[in-house]
Amino acid sequence: MKQRGVTIWFTGLSGAGKTTITRALEQKLREQDYPVEILDGDVVRENLTKGLGFSKEDRDENIRRIGFVANLLTRHGVIVLVSAISPYREIREEVKQRIGDFVEVFVNAPLAVCEDRDVKGLYKRARNGEIKSFTGIDDPYEPPLNPEVECRTDQETIEESLAKVWQKLEEMGYLR
Ligand code: PPS
Ligand code: MG
Repeated sequence: MKQRGVTIWFTGLSGAGKTTITRALEQKLREQDYPVEILDGDVVRENLTKGLGFSKEDRDENIRRIGFVANLLTRHGVIVLVSAISPYREIREEVKQRIGDFVEVFVNAPLAVCEDRDVKGLYKRARNGEIKSFTGIDDPYEPPLNPEVECRTDQETIEESLAKVWQKLEEMGYLR
């Protein structure tokens, strides 16, 4: 039977663990020979959406372009892992409607935890005022109301988060 494509969309604050979970999931899928691609905000912003900033308009444009590519890949049977803050509910919903085969994963850790981790030192710079419009500091994040999966990365291990996503994919019939 042909592989059904799906977009698994990881949304959450900077430092919540989106990239970490998508990489772990990618590895597990590859080991089992699934066709998989990652679209990560940090990477996409160096090519596909280069030049876009962090205003609402630019973030929405970023998400729309990522969604466009994710849709093409999904239609061709790829399991697409999107990792982007995607702070606005409305555009996430728009992309979800367009793609259809879509699993929303809320990568949720309290702001204080993300700030404490400060993996890239960006929160510090945002607090200093060196970076403006930083999500969670002086820019909004609208949490999903009905995500298919929620990963509480401050309370569970990567393996546990991964297992939750995997189980949901099985339930929804995307795995063989
Ligand atoms: S968005 O909102 O979905 O368009 O953002 P995204 O494409 O995921 O890019 C987020 C990464 O950009 C870095 N960065 C910022 N994030 C949030 N706000 C501001 N102002 C900002 N400036 C730079 C940061 O490395 C984000 O990566 P992650 O992996 O989320 O930490
Ligand atoms: Mg990241």
